[in-house]
Amino acid sequence: MSFAALILAAGKSTRMNSDVPKVLHMIAGKPMVQYAIDVVKGIGPDKIAVVFGDGMQSAADLIAPVPAIVQHPARGTGHAVMCAREFLSGYNGPVLVLYGDTPFLTADTLQKMIDSVRSGSGVVILGFYPDDAAQYGRLVLNDTGGLESIVEFTDCTPQQKTIAYCNAGLMCIDGKLMPDLLAQLKNDNAKSEYYLTDLVAIARRKNIPCAAIEVEPHEVMGINTRYQLALAEQFMQQKLRSKMLEAGATLLDPPSVYCSHDTEIGKDVVIEPNVYFGPKVKIGSGVRIKAFSHIEGADIKSHAVIGPFARIRPGSVIENDVHIGNFVEIKNSHLHSGVKAGHLSYLGDSTVGANSNIGAGTITCNYDGFSKHQTTIGADAFIGSNTALVAPVAVGDGAIIAAGSVICKNVEADALGIARAAQESKPGWAKRFKDRMRQRTTKKAV
Ligand code: UD1
Ligand code: MG
Repeated sequence: MSFAALILAAGKSTRMNSDVPKVLHMIAGKPMVQYAIDVVKGIGPDKIAVVFGDGMQSAADLIAPVPAIVQHPARGTGHAVMCAREFLSGYNGPVLVLYGDTPFLTADTLQKMIDSVRSGSGVVILGFYPDDAAQYGRLVLNDTGGLESIVEFTDCTPQQKTIAYCNAGLMCIDGKLMPDLLAQLKNDNAKSEYYLTDLVAIARRKNIPCAAIEVEPHEVMGINTRYQLALAEQFMQQKLRSKMLEAGATLLDPPSVYCSHDTEIGKDVVIEPNVYFGPKVKIGSGVRIKAFSHIEGADIKSHAVIGPFARIRPGSVIENDVHIGNFVEIKNSHLHSGVKAGHLSYLGDSTVGANSNIGAGTITCNYDGFSKHQTTIGADAFIGSNTALVAPVAVGDGAIIAAGSVICKNVEADALGIARAAQESKPGWAKRFKDRMRQRTTKKAV
């Protein structure tokens, strides 16, 4: 189904009170504008572009290779579309105009708008009944339910303000009519802006049919303030948790689990309370994530047990049946199946072979202040508690490292690596010491 899409994101976002452009604020770990791009891409547009304001290079970089068009100064939603004239020139199919601050739109709804233009409407918009109609544009319908015009709140008569049916802020326009309709936009309104919404009245004056498609309010929830951003995050989290439950996971305390837009969960996963999933996490079936664990950029395979209080950082691959316990941090490391790291350890830039045991307090010293170095531990190795592995270093298959060692040189397979001061025992020393001390204190007392 061919169509073009334009996403408007050049507004000043003053109400966010932020140095970051509004559409770059995150919802479930994904920038707001990316939601609009992804939903459009999902239904295969012929072309897509985003309109940004001046000084929003960071946003343009983020969405590349999707082209960015600059609108400067921002003189309204209609003006934003005018700035894309060259991009749309000669395009005859339906043109979808979306807002970058509306992240819950579904592909179904977009498809309905495109279909409506294909079956003869010149301009199609989305209408909804918000709980609080507030500042939304009001929809004026004719006797047969056709759309006659959209009146912006600031330009409404007192009677028009009582209309409950509002403009959700999306539009689909017949590309063949678009240049002519846009050419007639004026800015003689309360804000002196070119309103895209005026296209409806312009089309109606030419007797071109226009339509409103009704949608549920939550689908067109727009984000203009931090409060709305917080509400949107909450709503997105609910959706993501429901998806996890449908995928076959058990969440012991759903509201305390934070998901990212791309968290992937297998069957029979159990997630205890207060768990955070950052971006790019994949969890295999039968995994248990214990309370207060923080996981990002990790691929955790079947039946692993993580936490409580574990931190798994980007670049980590945790194979089947691995056990990671409390206060263990894993970064950019590959732990093969059956590895156990139960307590208080740091494994960074490392590979640990199957069934190896990492004792409490083991640290890979991976950073020398300038660059990162690799630690390689073979299969079936035993790293004693409180070992420092000074990378780059390798420990062979089946080797044992004595507790408290500082290992700077490679240890070969099946060897014992021991690197600590030799223990000395002095028979009777403790008793003689204590006797002497007791004598001294008795003399003082006399
Ligand atoms: C708009 C609609 C209003 C609707 C509401 C729904 C218009 C004139 N009004 O109002 O009928 O009820 O959305 O949320 O369209 N933008 C630009 N360039 C500009 C101005 C805005 O790219 O010059 C972008 C913004 O970044 C934003 C979107 O267009 O993503 C909408 O702008 P916003 O200022 O939020 O419009 P509303 O006042 O909410
Ligand atoms: Mg808005």
